[in-house]
Amino acid sequence: MWKKIFGKAPLPKNEAALLDIERSRLPRHVAVIMDGNGRWAKGQGFLRTVGHRAGVDTLHDILDTAIDLKLEVLTVYAFSTENWKRPHEEVDFLMRLFSEYLDKEEREMHEKNVRIRFIGRVDELTPELIQRVRHAESLMKDNTGVNFCVAVNYGGQDEICRTAQELARKVQEGALSPEEITPESFETALDTKELPPVDLVIRTSGDMRLSNFLLWQTAYAEFWFTETNWPDFKPACFLEAIRDYAGRERRFGGIKGK
Ligand code: FPP
Repeated sequence: MWKKIFGKAPLPKNEAALLDIERSRLPRHVAVIMDGNGRWAKGQGFLRTVGHRAGVDTLHDILDTAIDLKLEVLTVYAFSTENWKRPHEEVDFLMRLFSEYLDKEEREMHEKNVRIRFIGRVDELTPELIQRVRHAESLMKDNTGVNFCVAVNYGGQDEICRTAQELARKVQEGALSPEEITPESFETALDTKELPPVDLVIRTSGDMRLSNFLLWQTAYAEFWFTETNWPDFKPACFLEAIRDYAGRERRFGGIKGK
């Protein structure tokens, strides 16, 4: 229904082909801050919740594009540890929306070989949502296509603290020495263990900040910002960001050509 009203369409198959970028220049891991649902809704004279619903449609199309491009990981910021400060009606709405989204879309994602994972303090969500999340993760656990990582009740500082606590406990138990805590071992205890570092962060809606998203994983990420609000962020915008990324030179602290 939303597609009909707002005229959104999935990426035409040949548009992905048009991208024509050497595979090795594509990002392995794209992380998206889906911002501007509220502003988009306000601009159209709608309630903020209408913006979040329209945001779900955008997410559907962007995941499809990631599938077309055979990206390794798409991570999206759905709800931060700070978002609890929003009016409780909006928080309740978002929790119901996430549940509905899984109900509606998990079968299709599974058929498209997507592997969904959730990061953040998932255990503090509503019992209904926890059950939905665990069901979706278990349904898709053996899939080998795009890793679709959804950050819910997620904060980068919180993730780093939880990881440090886990490693500290191991040190206390004698299972680990302090010297064994290295960037490499730390990474294996983060929520994103098994996933490669973020190559490209996309943030919609004009703000240029990270907002506590994937602080560790974005150490060497490239950034792409757009004024476009998330509900208006079309597959073509996503492709524009990827194309821009593919043209960049990444040095990881080194020197060009060395
Ligand atoms: C930011 O816009 C958006 C959110 C906090 C919620 C993100 C949720 C969706 C895009 C819905 C789809 C997600 C899933 C996982 C089904 P905002 O409300 O901060 O907008 P504003 O900055 O204009 O107020």
